[in-house]
Amino acid sequence: MKQFKAVNWNTPENDYVEMFWEQNLKQFWIDTEYIPSKDIDSWKSLSPELREAYKKALGGLTLLDTLQSHTGMPKVIDHIEGLQNKSVLSYMCMMEAIHAKSYSTIFTTVASTTEIDAIFEWASTNEQLQFKAKTIDSYYRKLDKENVSKEEIYMALVASVMLETFLFYSGFFLPLWLAGQGQMVASCDIIKKIIADESIHGVFVGLLAQEIFNTFSEKKKEKLKAELFILMDMLYENEMKYTDHVYSDVGLGSEVKEYIRYNGNKALMNLGFEPRYEVSEVNPIVLNGLNVETTQHDFFSKKSTNYEKTLEVVHLHDEDFDMKKELEMEI
Ligand SMILES: [Fe+2]
Ligand SMILES: [Fe+2]
Repeated sequence: MKQFKAVNWNTPENDYVEMFWEQNLKQFWIDTEYIPSKDIDSWKSLSPELREAYKKALGGLTLLDTLQSHTGMPKVIDHIEGLQNKSVLSYMCMMEAIHAKSYSTIFTTVASTTEIDAIFEWASTNEQLQFKAKTIDSYYRKLDKENVSKEEIYMALVASVMLETFLFYSGFFLPLWLAGQGQMVASCDIIKKIIADESIHGVFVGLLAQEIFNTFSEKKKEKLKAELFILMDMLYENEMKYTDHVYSDVGLGSEVKEYIRYNGNKALMNLGFEPRYEVSEVNPIVLNGLNVETTQHDFFSKKSTNYEKTLEVVHLHDEDFDMKKELEMEI
């Protein structure tokens, strides 16, 4: 009979889980603490091409964060060893839902409902975007059955790192590039919070993947590494086409592609492998965008200081949960 266990935080189950729990908590934020309405004038000053590219970039990011929140994290949680590790992943899953919603917070501020509906329609039909989601999802879905192999768990974690450390960056480029020039700065504060989260997620999931990888025989390691490179090549090729689609009208394609290669190498490093892409120079505006004073991209540092709004804290009382009483009062 299956024995159910309670998560016991008294004894750490490995030497990193407590640090990741703490760091995740320090980075907590919600979209409504930011004020993207400060960007309305900036939005109006952008060319129609830039506005279109921005909407597509954010639409694509929304799709990936939705997948990660609704499928990626929940599937992975079920197959990871260690109840404390599962707790960290659960927290990260909740943040994915905040990420997915936060793009709408920006959209709602700058675009009309018709425009927003059009971009969500675009996201659900764009060939390359759908390919990204379908490819990553196929690895998550392999965890759906009764007897899942360690290789399948490993490859699902690889897919998760590919999504979080590699595939997001074609979307992150534009908000960082614009903010580096003083455009759409308030919205980019939200994007920077997401990037800081993805950074810690990629490292944590990468560590979990490496732990499993190290238990494999040399032969199996070679086989999985080859599979990983095939997956990455496929995603890379698709990412190049996606970048052409989103960025060619604004002339940023080649710079975005350089940034994608830079982050592809980071994804490999998170998984314990050597970089494999040639990167000459990533646009310094984009890299600096991650290092401005108000942003804490380094995930070992403290919570960001750029909170704009004070949260209205409403304390809940027992009677708030008394549905029966409420129902009786209504009757
Ligand atoms: Fe996310
Ligand atoms: Fe994430």
